[in-house]
Amino acid sequence: MAISRAYISFLSTFFILFLLRNNGGVGATTLGYYSESCPNVEEIVKSSVEFFVSNDNSLAPALLRLHFHDCFVHGCDGSVLLEGSSSEMSAPANTGLRGFQVIMDAKAGVEARCPGVVSCADILALAARDAVVLTKGPSWEVALGRLDGLKSSASDTNDMPSPFDSISLLATKFAAKGLSLEDLVALSGAHTIGQADCHFFSYRLYNYGTTGASDPSLNSSSLNELKAICPSLSSNNRAALDKGSRQTWDNAYYKNIGAGNALLESDSKLGSDGSTGGLVSRFAGSLSEFDSTFVRSMVKLGNVGVKTKAGGGGEIRRMCQVTNF
Ligand code: HEM
Repeated sequence: MAISRAYISFLSTFFILFLLRNNGGVGATTLGYYSESCPNVEEIVKSSVEFFVSNDNSLAPALLRLHFHDCFVHGCDGSVLLEGSSSEMSAPANTGLRGFQVIMDAKAGVEARCPGVVSCADILALAARDAVVLTKGPSWEVALGRLDGLKSSASDTNDMPSPFDSISLLATKFAAKGLSLEDLVALSGAHTIGQADCHFFSYRLYNYGTTGASDPSLNSSSLNELKAICPSLSSNNRAALDKGSRQTWDNAYYKNIGAGNALLESDSKLGSDGSTGGLVSRFAGSLSEFDSTFVRSMVKLGNVGVKTKAGGGGEIRRMCQVTNF
């Protein structure tokens, strides 16, 4: 396992170099971007992530989700971190986002060593990687140099992927960010860790398609377990996205899809849809293939809509929750 993880990390470094060489115009990030201006940035971020996750391991999935939600609105620019009554974080699509305090803590640590140098968007990208590693997932080199965005509006989250979307709509939303069907299936594998609130799936237990019955694609033992966690349509408990191993990185998420144990309807449909079912089976059959594809897809996700010094349109925020003035 150690060898294959090292190999994946090695391959991903080459992939990043390839990506940057071939996609290197405005918006490209760079490996070692802070090597002179803030050489300890990776250690500082890692130590904040480790500290918080060791006290509350549910923060690891939260950090991964936070980076995804950042990147899907205005690109990976820390806009999800901006506070305000109508900012992105207040939008229904961002319900349940957590882990903000980890990013603030890391930013404080980084500012103490290299003030005004490192963006919050870069800290988010590093924290997501560190969080995956802490769950025993793969590692990868994170290219840096993102600027923080200047705006954040709840209405801009309207196109966020939803668990109620069809696969073709999810594919369209991913394609709008330059992400392929393979990226959609591999990145959804992030649901190998973490939990979801009952309101995202309780209709599958009690009133699927307004029939008053349960979703027939849900395995009966999962159905009973989930009914115990969410006793009614309006319950607000949380259940594991990946039955049996929500704290550990593995490919059981894909096996669970095949066995009718997926929690979210969108995850379940990845298995049954003709455009994605084959990829679900492949990742269910090979953890190393899932890991290596996930790493490639995370690098792509982390480069969506990036603002850089060369391209402009952003700043290095002094505090992640407010723009500079
Ligand atoms: C394909 C489209 C996706 C949909 C529809 C979706 C939907 C959801 C929903 C509804 C939740 C539960 C949130 C809650 O109740 O707090 C969730 C959790 C999560 N999502 Fe996704 N997601 C998608 C893709 C992704 C991607 C691309 C990533 C990261 C690369 C990701 C990472 C996570 C993680 C780690 C959690 C668990 C969060 C926690 O435990 O706090 N998701 N997702």
